[in-house]
Amino acid sequence: MIHSTITGIERVSPTTVSIRFPWEAAVLPGQFIMVWIPGLGEIPISLSHIGDIKGITIKSFGPTSEALTKMKEGDRIFFRGPYGRPFTQVKGKILVVGGGSGMAGLLPLINSDTVGVVSARTKDELLFVDRFLEGNVIKVTDDGSAGIKGIAVDGLKGLDLQKFTKMYICGPELMLRSVYRYIREIDVDAEFSLERLMKCGIGVCDSCSIDGYQLCRDGPTFSKKQISGMHEFGAFKLTESGKRIALPK
Ligand SMILES: Cc1cc2nc3c(=O)[nH]c(=O)nc-3n(C[C@H](O)[C@H](O)[C@H](O)COP(=O)(O)OP(=O)(O)OC[C@H]3O[C@@H](n4cnc5c(N)ncnc54)[C@H](O)[C@@H]3O)c2cc1C
Ligand code: FES
Repeated sequence: MIHSTITGIERVSPTTVSIRFPWEAAVLPGQFIMVWIPGLGEIPISLSHIGDIKGITIKSFGPTSEALTKMKEGDRIFFRGPYGRPFTQVKGKILVVGGGSGMAGLLPLINSDTVGVVSARTKDELLFVDRFLEGNVIKVTDDGSAGIKGIAVDGLKGLDLQKFTKMYICGPELMLRSVYRYIREIDVDAEFSLERLMKCGIGVCDSCSIDGYQLCRDGPTFSKKQISGMHEFGAFKLTESGKRIALPK
């Protein structure tokens, strides 16, 4: 287990914080760490900042993520990693599509030329829209409080996707599914970062299994071609006990 001391906390939305801590490790965009909160649990979190001062950006969902969002400067943070297959980076114009806290894992890919479709439930939950140059970001909200009223895929409809060298997509699985269905017949390269329940994070327990892949080791990033061969993507997930349950259609 690695430990570091938190040197910075930034609230990035009413429910989400970025935590910064020094860690001299080589990390690539798309990789994650397993963060341990003693007495509560260990959860996978993407690295949102990959310089010498690393960072994670966490939305409060349940007990462990909530405890992380309440940490303070000077607290110790315990973790393992970095783990997972990073995004494949390319030269050329890229489009990132993020839903909710999924923007955290996409943040290291953003440069001055990157175009983004950023979606969230409300205006206050849109993450990192200020990281794009003026005119390079399309906002989408469920309630219409900012940008287009709708879901992430509605933000893609006005774009000529074939002009992008690559798309990178990260967010809730139902959002990934709708983006995949929209782009599957379009000639554009894409990589998706998936989420599944994880226990070990290192390819031992199989709790993150999807169509014979282990998400922690073979993913969490998967190419459009890999996704096209998955039957469980957008259809089934495993619970804590290993039970296979259907996702909403
Ligand atoms: C590779 C990977 C990278 C991740 N990166 C990030 C990240 O950068 N930032 C971040 O905030 N989260 C990230 N997550 C998700 C994070 O691990 C979960 O939010 C976390 O496991 C929730 O744990 P918990 O114990 O707090 O809540 P739990 O007790 O596990 O969940 C509480 C409730 O919230 C629901 N829930 C849990 N996770 C989600 C979710 N993602 N979306 C919607 N509902 C959910 C559960 O179904 C349950 O009802 C990542 C997950 C993976 C697999
Ligand atoms: S989390 Fe254990 S194999 Fe992936």
